[in-house]
Amino acid sequence: MCGIVGYVGQRAVQEILLAGLEKLEYRGYDSAGLSMLVADGSIESVRAVGNLSKLRAAVLDTNGNADEEQGAVATATLTATSGIGHTRWATHGRVTESNAHPHYDTTDKVHVVVNGIVENYLALKQRLRDMGAVFTSETDAEVIAHLISHHLALGSLVEGVRAAYAELEGHYSFVAMAAEEPDTLVGARKECPLIIGRGDGEQFVASAIPAFLAYTRDVQYIENGEIVVVRPEGVEFMTADGTPIEREITHVDWDESTAEKGGYETFMLKEIYEQADAVAETIADRTIRPDGIDLAEAELDESLLENVDRVLILAAGTSFHAGLIGRYAIEEWARLPVDMDVASEWRYRNPIVSERELVIGITQSGETADTLAAMRLAHEKGAKVLACTNVVGSQATRDADGVLYTRAGLEVSVAATKTFVCQVAAMYMLALRLAEKRGTLPPERIAELVAEIKQLPTRITELIEGLNGSLLATAKRHAMSDFYLYLGRHVGRAVALEGALKLKEISYIATDAYAGGEMKHGPIALLDEDTPVVCIATDMPILDKMISNIQEVRARGAHVIAIATEGDDRLEEVSEEVIYVPRTDWMLQPLLAVIPLQLFAYYVARERGLNVDQPRNLAKTVTVE
Ligand code: AGP
Repeated sequence: MCGIVGYVGQRAVQEILLAGLEKLEYRGYDSAGLSMLVADGSIESVRAVGNLSKLRAAVLDTNGNADEEQGAVATATLTATSGIGHTRWATHGRVTESNAHPHYDTTDKVHVVVNGIVENYLALKQRLRDMGAVFTSETDAEVIAHLISHHLALGSLVEGVRAAYAELEGHYSFVAMAAEEPDTLVGARKECPLIIGRGDGEQFVASAIPAFLAYTRDVQYIENGEIVVVRPEGVEFMTADGTPIEREITHVDWDESTAEKGGYETFMLKEIYEQADAVAETIADRTIRPDGIDLAEAELDESLLENVDRVLILAAGTSFHAGLIGRYAIEEWARLPVDMDVASEWRYRNPIVSERELVIGITQSGETADTLAAMRLAHEKGAKVLACTNVVGSQATRDADGVLYTRAGLEVSVAATKTFVCQVAAMYMLALRLAEKRGTLPPERIAELVAEIKQLPTRITELIEGLNGSLLATAKRHAMSDFYLYLGRHVGRAVALEGALKLKEISYIATDAYAGGEMKHGPIALLDEDTPVVCIATDMPILDKMISNIQEVRARGAHVIAIATEGDDRLEEVSEEVIYVPRTDWMLQPLLAVIPLQLFAYYVARERGLNVDQPRNLAKTVTVE
């Protein structure tokens, strides 16, 4: 989850950019950089690997320790009044200074900062190279600088950006500046967020409001497919074909703490709403190829996935539930046997593992003591260990043989939400890559699944936008119930387990989650007319069996809240309430089905007047044994 900030105005831009980037640190990043237009008309850049203190040090170094000739330029950045800044989380290319943004064209006249992914960058790069462009990074983002530079011949930076935009595929937002057009920034948005902050004789553009909140609370939202031209005296909005657009100014009345939460009342809600972006980042470059998945990156040598004849998944809590979905996907698609256990049990079992076993440790924090210990034990016993984590540089990444990152951005809420859906997306991609390598799925099926995975961010957006009043009403109706049963079968069981965990964790309501077929073996005794029973009944091969279990619940008079796939009317007949999620491939349904349950748990907790960001007895990372 990269961050963008840009400024044009009268103030010294250097500190504005650095402070703005600091406000975006919560998104997570591994390198950062600034570009500023200096008095002699050139653009000066400073970039650094590591956190923003490293960038600050590099900027100070440039300002203070440069030799005489450079010093004049370096000191000039202190008085520069327009520029762009970026925090990068590596997707294409390693974590190096040359891969950090801003990127620039061959003449060093056009600089850009980019969030997201340019899917057709390889073809564009080849074409631009053939025309003489010299590339200095391994990133996809750099093509944007060269492409705009190529199109500058059309007459202006905005014309260049519009022409470039028309050629770019993927989902991204970017801000460009050109030496020949001082005090002008041009931004473009396709899916990834970009927002304007309006000032008096100065303007801001950023990927999130906190970056400029210290200076202005007047914002203008840039919509998908729009281009903006930002100058000290004002901002012009237009469509990609150049048609001007009027955009109202909205005053955001946020204090510091609301700003940190992006305007949401809690981190948990903010993170639920960030899930489409988080999944988009997680799958981005890995799903560019229509006929398969690419997982090879600096931290993951794909040879780790070869000569494997068993998989073992180890994790705790929510991460364990993501692993359970991974188990079904790997077995179904890659036809590999998968065992799994909670890490805190497995490590004390005197377990048996082989050298041909791939052990996957799933831990969003990368610091959970039991998961780390289990991964180390597996490693000592000769297994290959893959960490699936959200935190760059965490202990799990240092202990494992390979890392599959989720790219959810920092998750502050104790209740995991966006990291869960990203872990599930990562498991789908891993399962599909294993299937590809092992030849266990026909190419057409792989292509179909890749296309469906790519659609997940859009489906999440649709789902969250549609989950409004009725879910809230359901939560209000049952908020004071003192027990909930969650039921699911097959892939739906993991969703039931996760839904039940979310509710108990933040609402302190007793919940139980069972495989539907197990209900008659005991838990059915708990049911009476007051019991809400949440039934995961999305599309899957044994949906009929789940519907039979729902009938059994109904026979006891309990209240069924079903999670179903859009278009499946059968659930209406057997449930008191049905919450629909968009249709996708049946194996992918769990990633969508969990979202209403996260929101449901949230609404119930709110109805009970609880602080979901500080659940009792729980901390974000469990490092103490
Ligand atoms: C879920 O909402 C919890 N925060 C908890 O179950 C969590 O998933 C578990 O502690 C594991 O954490 P990890 O993913 O950081 O290892």
